[in-house]
Amino acid sequence: MSDALLAARAAFESFKARGLKLNMQRGQPADVDFDLSNPLIAALGEGDTHLDGLDLRNYPGGVAGLPSARALFAHYLDVKAENVVVWNNSSLELQGLVLTFALLHGLRGSVSRWAHLPDGEKPKMIVTVPGYDRHFLLLETLGFELLPVQMHADGPDMDAVARIAGRDASVKGILFVPTYSNPGGETISEEKARQLAGLRAAAPDFTIFADDAYRAHHLYGEGNRDTPVNFVTLCRDAGHPDRAFVFASTSKVTFAGSGLGFVASSEDNIKWLSTYLNAQSIGPNKLEQARHVRFLGDYPGGLEGLMQGHARLIAPKFQMVYDTLKAELGESGEYATWSTPRGGYFISLDTAAPVADRVIALANEAGVSLTPAGATYPSGRDPHNRNIRLAPTRPPLEEVQTAMQAVAACIRLATEEYRSGEGRAAPL
Ligand SMILES: Cc1ncc(COP(=O)(O)O)c(C=O)c1O
Repeated sequence: MSDALLAARAAFESFKARGLKLNMQRGQPADVDFDLSNPLIAALGEGDTHLDGLDLRNYPGGVAGLPSARALFAHYLDVKAENVVVWNNSSLELQGLVLTFALLHGLRGSVSRWAHLPDGEKPKMIVTVPGYDRHFLLLETLGFELLPVQMHADGPDMDAVARIAGRDASVKGILFVPTYSNPGGETISEEKARQLAGLRAAAPDFTIFADDAYRAHHLYGEGNRDTPVNFVTLCRDAGHPDRAFVFASTSKVTFAGSGLGFVASSEDNIKWLSTYLNAQSIGPNKLEQARHVRFLGDYPGGLEGLMQGHARLIAPKFQMVYDTLKAELGESGEYATWSTPRGGYFISLDTAAPVADRVIALANEAGVSLTPAGATYPSGRDPHNRNIRLAPTRPPLEEVQTAMQAVAACIRLATEEYRSGEGRAAPL
């Protein structure tokens, strides 16, 4: 056994002996983040029964959402209020609804509904990898075939997107995170966004599903931020006005899963969506919308002010990950490389050797829970067995440091095992 392997094993065993119980897998805010929004709970008083001339306690109001909530989140997404539907507590649900309606009815401009394509073709969707496991789960559950393309520092591999979308009319679109992506934190450049908006696709109803969950989730101040793109405007200017749906929510702004999800698109698409939403609901929860309007409206600096509060709490945790990995593994790439995003919720780490599953198993053994192996690829299968998603937001800063020291020890051990031939001989 080599000295390097012996040393790596000893370091791992000493972490194991500490009986750690740390979690770096959940993309959740910390309690201190939530605390910033606690006044939201009491943002409405007993007398606050009306807003925008509507009785918040009663049905009337329509499916597109409370006018003030539409205006607030239109501003957030850089569109007009007519271009927005504010729905209930989840943007993922809205993504599922739009995709389901497209499968059942087709989108505007569709020749057939997506569930019944000519020649019995399965609908296909381009996704970026590494990517968000819940996108894959949603699409796979709805019966889409997933076509992965690589996410680069400036957005999806556009040559691959153009090739795939250009040749096959059953490729119905692309679903990805345009700003501070999950897990790598990449933001699509204006140039690539323009290419996507103007793409010559075989399908006349090729659609951009942009999950802009981290649009305002900058870690640093002006001058050190990525710039979110505006797909609604870009698609309109490119002559494809109905090509984009842009989703977002307040899950990482106020309360996770207890906030508001919303979507922006062309006015015609908003009418299309409203028709189908109206068939299954009289309208979204107006009281929650009014609470958010009041709370975010009253917050010093508004939503942007609140996001600065989050950044102050979260940025040190990202820095701790970068610093610890650098101190433990160096910067040569001998053991791993990792993204250093300027916003969002995740860091994407690639091991130099194909040992991601082994690292995650070792980390579990040492009491550090990481996102399951393969989760960043469709069907949970990472073809290179190298990618690990790190989620530093939930644990306190000291725990982030200990967890990352332990993860680094696992990376060293798994790599040395692999290099000595041990890792391959002993599958998990
Ligand atoms: C990219 C992305 N989209 C959507 C969500 C979930 O959003 P929501 O709570 O609005 O359904 C998450 C949560 O981690 C996410 O990372």
